[in-house]
Amino acid sequence: MGRIWKISGPVVVAEEMRGSRVYEVVEVGELRLDGEIIGLEQDKAVIQVYEDTSGLKVGEPVERTGEILMVELGPGIVGSIFDGVQRSLVTMAEELGDFLERGARTVALDRSKKWHFTPGVKAGQRVGEGDIIGTVQETGLMEHRIMVPLGIQGTLAEITEGEYTIEEPVAVLKDNGLERQLTLMQRWPARKPRPNKRRLDPGNLLVTGTRIMDYLFPLALGGKAAIPGGFGTGKTVALQQMARWAQTELNLYVGCGERGNEMADVLHSFQKLRDPATDILLTEKEIFIANTSNMPVVAREISIFIGITIAEYFRDMGYNVLLVADSTSRWAEAMREIGARLEETPGEEGFPTYLGSRLASFYERAGRVECLGAPDRTGSVTVIGAVSPPGADFSEPVTQSTLRIVEALYSLDVALANKRHFPTINWLTSYSLYADATRKWWENVSPDWSGTRDGALKVLQEEADLEEIVRLIGPEALPEDDKLVLLAAKMIREDFLMQSAYHPIDTYSTPERSHKMISVIMDFYKKAREMSAAGISVSEISSSKIIPRISRMKDTSNEDFGSYIIELSADMERELRVQEGGI
Ligand SMILES: Nc1ncnc2c1ncn2[C@@H]1O[C@H](COP(=O)(O)OP(=O)(O)OP(=O)(O)O)[C@@H](O)[C@H]1O
Ligand SMILES: [Mg+2]
Repeated sequence: MGRIWKISGPVVVAEEMRGSRVYEVVEVGELRLDGEIIGLEQDKAVIQVYEDTSGLKVGEPVERTGEILMVELGPGIVGSIFDGVQRSLVTMAEELGDFLERGARTVALDRSKKWHFTPGVKAGQRVGEGDIIGTVQETGLMEHRIMVPLGIQGTLAEITEGEYTIEEPVAVLKDNGLERQLTLMQRWPARKPRPNKRRLDPGNLLVTGTRIMDYLFPLALGGKAAIPGGFGTGKTVALQQMARWAQTELNLYVGCGERGNEMADVLHSFQKLRDPATDILLTEKEIFIANTSNMPVVAREISIFIGITIAEYFRDMGYNVLLVADSTSRWAEAMREIGARLEETPGEEGFPTYLGSRLASFYERAGRVECLGAPDRTGSVTVIGAVSPPGADFSEPVTQSTLRIVEALYSLDVALANKRHFPTINWLTSYSLYADATRKWWENVSPDWSGTRDGALKVLQEEADLEEIVRLIGPEALPEDDKLVLLAAKMIREDFLMQSAYHPIDTYSTPERSHKMISVIMDFYKKAREMSAAGISVSEISSSKIIPRISRMKDTSNEDFGSYIIELSADMERELRVQEGGI
């Protein structure tokens, strides 16, 4: 047993710690606060303590546990709210605070609840690591697949259907005379990526329901993306939208250093929302990790790794999982604070020199894989991280380090926020390298996706190119063709890209719906150009009654949408005809 030698905020140095390991979990002081060793020098161990250290005194005991920080994985995890070190926050306070007693020995998963286990394999069968041996219907939306833990194999001596707690044996394995019981729960070290058979390229669209993402800058299953944005530009709302509507089998929301009341709002709002595809409550496919700004800063660093470990575990079952993290900047700030306490030589703007590699060690755990074990299956983890650059200055180290790693960027724009154009994703500076990976998926929905998308992006680019001239000479002096570009771009921006998170219908747009909306706009533009070529003025075209009807596409319910578009297209065909003199 060691003793506290020095206390510096959340960082404690203990002496007489010879033989301990980096990342070993320790219990610090009379209160037995949870901590983790992050550095060793001779007999001294540097410990980050996950709880408030006030009142700790030099000389108090430090107990080693011999374990590294493990994540508990098993039924009961879905719908949970955890703090940064996976302690269950069962009761949801009005404002998330430190509502766990310091040093409280809480566990992540409920030990007393019984789950119905249905075997998927028979006694006598040989199984190995990653094999699915049965299932538990954990929630209406989640079939929890029970897998043989890593490093274990043998012949099933027993496997029985029934009601079990997560610690009771559901099966017995025999291997070389050794017997081993399998339970519904397993554990995995948070900082270590879970292995797989093979990494695959990201593929297929991750449907988010946000048009500008799905249609213009598609994110692929297994991809990694960042959403940087200045203060109040809509990062949190964007991530909430992803975590709500993404058509993945499990979504994880990691609230990292953000305001407690905001996190409480997130939790409240999720309790009532239903999945658009199944109409089942969203909490049945959601896990929350809440490490808010009023919680101990060092737990923030590990919370991200706990989140990604849970995501990988469900990926290994053969599911597509989305993890959103708000905000990786607060995460990096926690590292900076710890680094300063450790008196490390700082890098840029005081961030540790390993900022980039630590960010990468998180993002690189995203991916699509062939899972270990039988039956054959693939799963994916997609990661979206918010970044909050101070003063919306994207040249700062966290944004820059993140941009070197991610393959899709949704760049939020202060100017758009000021104009109340939401989401504030800037269509000129955002990008996705997944357009090719999602092309096949999109072409199943609409064979002309690529062409329509390119066309829309081109109009938006042309509008930007005209901006300078418009500023100098005003739009009236522009040639007719350019005026049409401005008209089309305005329609694309206002009737397609703008999408309110609070609109009951428009909050989620299916890919089919998105495609029809933009197709109608691009079709209008095409017809308008034909009319203009035939001598009809743009001001006349602009007064078409079709235009306000295009704007109302957003408000049309999914039931009425099909017939609305058929009628609109037919009227457009009739009214925007050159031969009959136009409008
Ligand atoms: N998609 C959207 N639809 C409608 N309104 C939105 C949308 N996104 C953001 N807003 C508006 O912008 C406000 C600020 O958004 P949000 O809190 O997500 O910003 P943020 O970037 O997370 O801010 P902070 O820097 O404080 O974390 C919201 O309260 C909401 O009014
Ligand atoms: Mg926010």
